[in-house]
Amino acid sequence: MAKITINGKICECNEGEYILAIARRNGIFIPAICYLSGCSPTLACRLCMVEADDKRVYSCNAKAKDGMVVITDNEQIASERKAIMQTYCINHPLECGVCDQSGECELQNFVYHMGVDEQIYSIKDTHKPAQDWGLIHYDPALCIVCERCITVCKDKIGDNALKTVPRGGDALEKSLKDTMPKEAYAVWNKFQKNLIAPNSADGSLDCSDCGECTAVCPVGALVGSRFQYRSNAWELKKISASNPHSSDCELIYYDVKPTSIENRKHKIYRVSSDYDFGELNKAARFGYDFNKDESRKDRIVLERIVDGFKSGRIKNIKFNSFITNEEARILSILKDKFELNLINDEAKAYQNFLKEFSKFAGSSLYNGDFDSVKEADFIISAGSFLRHDAPNVGYKLNNALKINKASAIYFHPLKDAVVEGYSKNLLSCNHSPNLDIEILLFILQKFGKNLPKWLEDRLLSAFENAKKEVEVSKKVKQTSLVKKKIKDENGEEKEIEEEVEKEVIVKEKELIDAKFSTYAKALNLDEDALEKLLEKKEKFTLVIGEDFITSKNASTLAKLTGLVQRYTQFKVLIIPPRTNSLGVAMICELGEEQSGKTFGYNEKGDVVFSSLKADLDAPALNEQEGTFTNLDLRVVPTHPALDYHGFELNDIAKCLGLEFENTIDYTPNLGEGFKKIKFDDLENFYDNGGVNHRGYKLESKSFEACDDEFEIENLNPNLDEVIIYKANPIGQFSKFSNRASALMQTAKLYAGKEFLEANSLKDSDVVIIKKDELELALSVELDKDIQGAYLPFFDDKIDISGFFTSRYSSVTIQRSQA
Ligand code: SF4
Ligand code: SF4
Ligand code: FES
Repeated sequence: MAKITINGKICECNEGEYILAIARRNGIFIPAICYLSGCSPTLACRLCMVEADDKRVYSCNAKAKDGMVVITDNEQIASERKAIMQTYCINHPLECGVCDQSGECELQNFVYHMGVDEQIYSIKDTHKPAQDWGLIHYDPALCIVCERCITVCKDKIGDNALKTVPRGGDALEKSLKDTMPKEAYAVWNKFQKNLIAPNSADGSLDCSDCGECTAVCPVGALVGSRFQYRSNAWELKKISASNPHSSDCELIYYDVKPTSIENRKHKIYRVSSDYDFGELNKAARFGYDFNKDESRKDRIVLERIVDGFKSGRIKNIKFNSFITNEEARILSILKDKFELNLINDEAKAYQNFLKEFSKFAGSSLYNGDFDSVKEADFIISAGSFLRHDAPNVGYKLNNALKINKASAIYFHPLKDAVVEGYSKNLLSCNHSPNLDIEILLFILQKFGKNLPKWLEDRLLSAFENAKKEVEVSKKVKQTSLVKKKIKDENGEEKEIEEEVEKEVIVKEKELIDAKFSTYAKALNLDEDALEKLLEKKEKFTLVIGEDFITSKNASTLAKLTGLVQRYTQFKVLIIPPRTNSLGVAMICELGEEQSGKTFGYNEKGDVVFSSLKADLDAPALNEQEGTFTNLDLRVVPTHPALDYHGFELNDIAKCLGLEFENTIDYTPNLGEGFKKIKFDDLENFYDNGGVNHRGYKLESKSFEACDDEFEIENLNPNLDEVIIYKANPIGQFSKFSNRASALMQTAKLYAGKEFLEANSLKDSDVVIIKKDELELALSVELDKDIQGAYLPFFDDKIDISGFFTSRYSSVTIQRSQA
């Protein structure tokens, strides 16, 4: 731990940390526009200049040294900063009255803060028409070319979808270089030369539409198209919540205000975030209006449901993991009280996986989290279609590759060009879909230490000997002729040539005996390339995805994952497949559907209680308060953004004799593994230094692990015909995200170019997909980033369940003649 002094305050830090980050953590304000926490500095704004040990440096890229003394402001710095803000205002449209950013605009704030009260510079303006990029609107006239949007897209999201392009404006007068403040001249000169544009050949924005660039834009240049001209920022009330669509449950704010002057009912106008520390995916950012417009209390249906439980006619509750922990607890109490079966197949598969994992890991929970991905320098992702299944884990992986110079292996049968483009230090290993056990066996074989004897023997037998070509350095003797001057017998100087022998190093190719892992071979993994990726790596993380949880080999995979956590240096993160799969898995004892009536909570049943089409209205997750248990192993709170007028699950529970008045009364009573903390005592924010104050972190319990030998046999069938994968398109997670107005779409078969060619198909063709007796007609959509094809499950008008028993299926596909 090092110490530096900033404005007289002693601040602890790590040597090499950026001064700006240390200042922020210690509550010391340094003006800065272009720097984003966790990204590489771009040095576009220069506002963050400070004096460090009497030298002018930019605090966003100057690294702390023990004993350093930093002054953040003095007369000269203040005047440079003022001049920079003056140049940012040149030709900036005076439309603050209608600008979407007005009230939270960093240009406004810094202009005011620096005391800019006149404009002394000018240059001819250039015409810069506004552009619509789908969900995003770009107004170049407002852009101050801080490059935050480019940086966040490259360093966090990984799409690399934006770049600077020439502005085509006049050059600055040469004399200004000598007459105006140096830093302001440099900022203006750069700003006057550039604009922002999509990084694609045809000028369209080709990306995953996460909207993070709109969040980081300090001015009104990039905004969500659906927010544009809808509200002034200061009219909006921020409701802190958690992303309800995916298991990152990232911190979001629902920005709400009344719908209109006549209609005072609150409406969500947008979702905002703390972009420095938590990135949002497309559904979190744009999928906010997934509630019903009107909900009502139908007491007759309520009584019928209550009677169904009391009389014993209802025997099953079918639900999904888009519920809060508190609701899961209510369901679990109802189960015990009325001897019900709780049915949630996806959470059950996850629960089973965790149980087997825990036994062999010797700990109740996995030991990885967001930080262990972000801070790792070697990461393996296996069994996850990462950008689709868990985009936020993908952001952290990309961030580690970019900022920590980490390396990674991405194991997946579907090749993803965007993931491959994250870094040249990412090895994309596209293996056959029936292989999964082999990945974990390889990890144990390569990285395992002190393994149980039975496993070690098995892994040692999985090598084959073969010759391998290597480059070796050899010392060889070479003779050469060297000219030398000597004196002859007369004392005269003459030149002679003499043979000299010397040793030189030469590189030669040589075949040597080597051992190759049969697992690596089966997986098409280049072991030499891996060796290079592993050089000087110390912090290892393994990410396990839904493919493994739903595999025919799930039980074996879970045990092997437990052994990886126990016997290797990898931290392990097992991604919960849906928003609150982890919470449900921890709270509910899940079973099979038995005879008797089924109460469907957001699922099909004899009587349906749902925020979608239902017999009885239920609140959507943006209308509820409670907590989720996220993939980061945190219990995070979510608050209701909207008024709700129907019944909640707790109303049914109260009619059935459960004791708590409010749903959140269950928060301190969630059961084993959870803390007894009241809902109102849970915080939900990141502080200035990025410390996570969101709810609380679960604590893992350690116990004696199982070392018993188990059978390791790959039960996955060999797939033939055409193989399709079960996955949603990027930014779509479920029937709930698909209900949001910005995300609504109809299911298609999404396929890569090679897949279309191999099956003689084109984009927009209609195909019949067949499996046994099942048939499904869908149109095809090209996904140019993918090799392979996937069928989605977000569209509840289409039932694809019969096509899959795991995430892969063999089908036949024909072009429809109709
Ligand atoms: S669009 Fe916004 S974030 Fe991007 S460079 Fe311009 S001002 Fe900066
Ligand atoms: S929406 Fe997301 S992926 Fe697209 S350009 Fe913006 S930051 Fe990049
Ligand atoms: S924040 Fe350091 S140069 Fe912009």
